[in-house]
Amino acid sequence: MRINEHYAKLPASYLFPEIGRRVRSFAAAHPDAKVIRLGIGDVTEPLAPAIVEAMHAAVDEMGTRESFRGYGPEQGYDFLVEAIRANDYKARGIDIAADEIFVSDGSKCDSGNVQEIFAHAAKIAITDPVYPVYVDSNVMAGRTDAAGADGRYPGFTYLVGDEANGFQPEPPSTPVDVVYLCSPNNPTGTVATRDQLTRWVEWAKRTDSVILFDAAYESYISDPSLPHSIYEIPGAKDVALELRSFSKRAGFTGVRCAFMVVPKGVTGLDPEGKRVALNTLWARRHTTKFNGASYIVQKGAAAAYSPAGLAQTNAQIELYMENARLLREGLTAAGFTIFGGVHAPYIWLRTPAGLTSWQFFDRLLETANVVGTPGAGFGPAGEGYFRLSAFNSRANVEEAIARIRKAFG
Ligand code: MLT
Repeated sequence: MRINEHYAKLPASYLFPEIGRRVRSFAAAHPDAKVIRLGIGDVTEPLAPAIVEAMHAAVDEMGTRESFRGYGPEQGYDFLVEAIRANDYKARGIDIAADEIFVSDGSKCDSGNVQEIFAHAAKIAITDPVYPVYVDSNVMAGRTDAAGADGRYPGFTYLVGDEANGFQPEPPSTPVDVVYLCSPNNPTGTVATRDQLTRWVEWAKRTDSVILFDAAYESYISDPSLPHSIYEIPGAKDVALELRSFSKRAGFTGVRCAFMVVPKGVTGLDPEGKRVALNTLWARRHTTKFNGASYIVQKGAAAAYSPAGLAQTNAQIELYMENARLLREGLTAAGFTIFGGVHAPYIWLRTPAGLTSWQFFDRLLETANVVGTPGAGFGPAGEGYFRLSAFNSRANVEEAIARIRKAFG
C-alpha cells in the first residue's frame, strides 16, 4: 500500500492545532498565567435562546415513534432550504432554486471538498494571505509540487493582498480555472466592494473561470452598500459558487451547519469539450459522500431566521463587532497599524519592527499572555502581520487590550 505522497508537501500540522500545541506548552510551563485566546476565530457566546428552544423541541420529536426521523434529505430539509432562499437571497432580490442549495456540516468541509469536482490539472488561484484550507486541500489533491524556499507551491497562482491594494487583489492576468475569494476576508478582516466583485465576475465570464466565494462572515457587514452575496453582482450565477455558514452567523462552530450554493448556470468542460453543470457534479458528490446534516441541527439553524432568532443572533454579532472596535482603537492608540475589523470580526495588524509574525506570537504570549494568529500561517504574504479575533467576552477583550498596551504601548 502506498500513501498519498502529496501530504508530505504540507506543513506537519494544520495552523490552528499547531497554535494550540504551543499555547498548551506555554500554559504547562506557566500554570498561573491567565491566557486570553484571540487566536482561532471561535465564537464564545452561548447559543441564542430561540435556537436552543428549537433544538430542544427537535430532540423531543426524535424521542417519539410518531415524529422520529432517520436519514433526512441529503441536500437539507425543506424548512431550512426555504428559510435560506427567503432570508439570504429573495430578501436581496436574488432568486436561488431549492435544488441549488446544499446544506452541510460546515464551510471548512465544503471549501475543502469542492475541489474534487475540478480536473486534476485545473489551475487554481488563491489570494495570499488566505484561509489555509483552500491551499492545503489542493495540495492534498496533488495539484502542486512541494513548496519552494519562499513558501509558495509551484502550480498555484498567488494573488497578493497587501497594503497598497487594501488586501483586495485584482483578478490574475494569466489564465486560471478556479479562484477562491473570501469576503469579508479571513484573515485580513477587509471586505470587497461592489465594484471589486463586479470586476471579478466580469473577469470570470471573460476567461471562463469559476469563483468559489466564501461568504462565511457576511453577517458582520454593517455598510448597506457592501454586497453580502456574490449573486448581488449581475452575471454571478453563471460563474460563482457561494459558501455560507451558521458558525459565525449564529454561533454554530460547535453545532456545525453550513450550505453551499451551486447555481445550475455554472458550468465546466468535460474532456470532449462538452459543458457540464457543476450542480450535477456536486449533487452526485454530496449525495454519495454525505447523508445530510442532523435534523436537530437544521431545526436550530432555521430558528436563527425567526424574528427572535434574528434579534438574538444580531445582538451577538454586535457584541463581537464592538469588541473589534475596541481592539482597533485600543491597539491604534498603542501605536499599532491596524487593518480590517470594521465589517469582519478579525483585526489584521502589522507586527512591530524587527519581529516576524511567529516571533510576535511568542512575545505576545509571553509578555501579555494573549494568543493571536501569526500572519505567516496564512501564506507568505502574511509575514509581517498578525491576526486578532474579536470573538471573546467584553471583559477578556478589554483585559487583552490593557495587557498589550502595557507590553507594547
Ligand atoms: C479561523 O480562525 O480562521 C476560523 O475559525 C477557521 C474556520 O472557520 O475554520
